[in-house]
This record gives sequence, structure tokens and C-alpha cells, in this order.
Amino acid sequence: MIKIICVCGARPNFMKIAPLMRAFAAHGGFETLLVHTGQHYDENMSRLFFDELNIPKPDVNLEVGSGSQAVQTAEVMKRFEPIVQDFQPNYVLVVGDVNSTIACGLVAVKLGVKLIHVEAGLRSFDRAMPEEINRVLTDTISDLLFVTEQSGCDNLVHEGVPAERFHFVGNVMIDTLMANREKAKNSDILSRMNLDPKSYAVITLHRPSNVDNLEMFERIISAFEQIQKDIKLVFPIHPRTLNNIKGTELDGRVKAMENLILLEPVGYLDFLWLMSNAALVMTDSGGIQEETTILGVPCMTLRENTERPVTIDQGTNRLVHITTEDILKNYQDICNNPNHDNASVPKLWDGKAAERIAQIIANQ
Ligand code: UD1
Ligand code: UDP
Repeated sequence: MIKIICVCGARPNFMKIAPLMRAFAAHGGFETLLVHTGQHYDENMSRLFFDELNIPKPDVNLEVGSGSQAVQTAEVMKRFEPIVQDFQPNYVLVVGDVNSTIACGLVAVKLGVKLIHVEAGLRSFDRAMPEEINRVLTDTISDLLFVTEQSGCDNLVHEGVPAERFHFVGNVMIDTLMANREKAKNSDILSRMNLDPKSYAVITLHRPSNVDNLEMFERIISAFEQIQKDIKLVFPIHPRTLNNIKGTELDGRVKAMENLILLEPVGYLDFLWLMSNAALVMTDSGGIQEETTILGVPCMTLRENTERPVTIDQGTNRLVHITTEDILKNYQDICNNPNHDNASVPKLWDGKAAERIAQIIANQ
């Protein structure tokens, strides 16, 4: 038996860990311990996804909660170390680029346990993003790296990672999308919210560069004030974003928009169905850039860079500067050219990435 600790902690981790847990169980050669760090903890940022995606209940929840970058990372490390010492795994597996990823990665390698990173090699080349630091550091200390797109392999080669250490396997986030696409059709979110297909845009925002900096966020809100005159905006708001605007002038402006529907974060199946039927998506999420590419829905990424360039080269994604003018210009452009006839499915985004990963680990 290969003993492996699988780590998850924040919303996007749950979509990535779900197919991996399934693939390890189906393979039969793994003994897993699922650790939830507790980085995200609200019902609709965490437990909901375990139910919907049939993820086994975590064996351990470290319950670290929120904190500054240093406090959160340190707290995960402190609480994760005894778990690794107790279980004595062959591997620790981490996904994505959140604080839980680097924190558990560091603990593993310092205890001499081999580290696996799923979604390795992605680079925004913007070190002001906490996620970019997490990506670079996690890849540097990983023994086995699994990559979603060619740019990730190119980046790892450029950084001197030996070829035998990394594998281009496809995208576990897309495994989850493919496994749930049919199920999402049963969502009643459109009727619940009185929305017609293609008559609305979906918004998500949570990057500190957009929502901690209220001057930037104001530019975005100004654009939404214009766009909502034309099309309904559905905005499941991330808790970071909600907390930031509470009590500010922007809170009032968001609530005053007649055609902007503010929601709490919604479950995966509802969100997948919302995106599938949207005329467009405006976001700063990483995963949503990939999901819209597969769904064929135009995506405006409100960022200066992306670590997922394949979604632009082959998909439906475009980068938009954080100015009111650029957001409006790109919105108009999409309205004028709604079809993405050139969009194609990136290589190996076929729903089988987790199976490949399990097989490669088993063959080590
Ligand atoms: C984190 C990740 C980010 C990822 C995002 C996905 C890092 C550095 N950032 O950002 O890469 O894209 O998750 O959503 O790891 N909060 C709640 N309830 C929760 C969780 C958070 O109210 O269940 C609030 C707290 O006020 C917290 C804030 O949101 O301080 C930010 O949470 P945190 O996990 O630190 O960062 P995210 O912005 O969620
Ligand atoms: N998502 C969701 N409900 C929401 C918003 C997003 O289920 O209200 C899903 C989305 O489909 C994707 C994941 O959450 O699978 C992306 O997470 P997030 O944007 O928080 O993180 P990022 O990908 O930016 O790290």
C-alpha cells in the first residue's frame, strides 16, 4: 500500500481533490488520509462541496481559520506536523496555490516525506500575488509535479526542474467539471432567480489586488454600474470582498444597482449551471478561467496577467485592465462578437487527469 496524505483547505482545492480521492480509491493500491486545513470554513465555502462532490469526510480538520498570510501559514504548519509524524506517509499531496499548499508542503519535506504538487508550473510572473510565491516555492521543494498545460512544463524547464520530475497530465479541475456537467442540469438556480439563459453575466471577485484596494474596486464597480443598464449581473460575493466593502461607500453603490443581484457564494452545481447559461463571465478567479474555456462561455479576467495562458490562446478568456474604460470596451466587444468559434479544448483536459496521476504515482 502507498500511504498518502491528501491536503485541501480552500474552495478551489475541493474541486481538485475530489477526482484524486476517487482515483486513489478506484486504483486500490493507496491508503489515504484526507486532511482539511480549515483555511475556508463557512458552510458555503467548504462543507457544501464535500456533499455535492462526494468527497469523503476529512479524516482530520486542522481548523486553522483566517489570519494574516504569516499567521495562517504558520498555524497550518504547526498543526499539520504531528499528523504527518503520526501517519508516516510515503507522500504528501498538495494541490493549487493557496497558503495551505505551501504550508503543508514545507512540513512534508522538512520531515523527509516526498511531496507531490498537483497543478504545478503555472506562473503569473507577478510576485505581488501571494499565490505566485506559493506556486514557485511549492514547485521548488516538490519531488513529483503534475502539470495542467504546456506553459507549466515550459516554466519548469526554464527553472531547471529535471524532466523526470514532472508530468503533463491534464487538469483535475476539469475532471470535476466533466463529472458534474450532467448533474448540474438539475440545478434550479435559474428559475429560483428568475433568469433566462444567456440574459445575464456572472461576476466573481476576490483577488486582493482588486478588492483590498478600494480604488481599484471602485473602477470595477463604476463599470458594473454601466453594464447593468444593459444586462443583469449575478454576483455571488466572496467573503473577503463582502468584508472589505462593508460600511464603505462602495457597499451602498453595489446595493443600489437595480440589475445587480448580490448572492452569498453558491454551491458547485448551482455555480456550474449559472456559468453554463451565462452570456459572459467577469472574474479574477483562477479556476473559472479554465471552466469557462471548457463551457465555451466568454470570460473577461479582470487582471493584468494570468498563470493560465492556454485559456487565452485556445479558450474563451481575455485579460482586461482594471480601468472602467477597458472593462466597458471589452464588454462591448464580447456583445458584438459573442461567438468563440476558434475556442478548443486544451490538450488532455479530458476528465481523466486524476486517473493518470494515480497511475504515475503507483509506478514510482
Ligand atoms: C484564498 C487563496 C486564494 C484563492 C481563494 C479561493 C491564499 C493566499 N489565498 O483567498 O489563492 O483564490 O482562497 O477562494 O491562500 N473568509 C470567511 N469565511 C471563509 C473563508 C474566508 O469569512 O470560509 C473571509 C475571512 O475574513 C478571511 C478572508 O475571507 O480573512 C480571506 O480568506 P483567505 O483564505 O485568507 O483568503 P481568500 O481571499 O479566501
Ligand atoms: N465556485 C463555486 N461557487 C461560487 C463561486 C465559485 O462553486 O459562488 C467554484 C468555481 O466553479 C470553481 C472554484 O469555485 O470551481 C473556483 O474557486 P475560487 O474562484 O474561489 O478560487 P481560485 O480558482 O481563484 O483559486
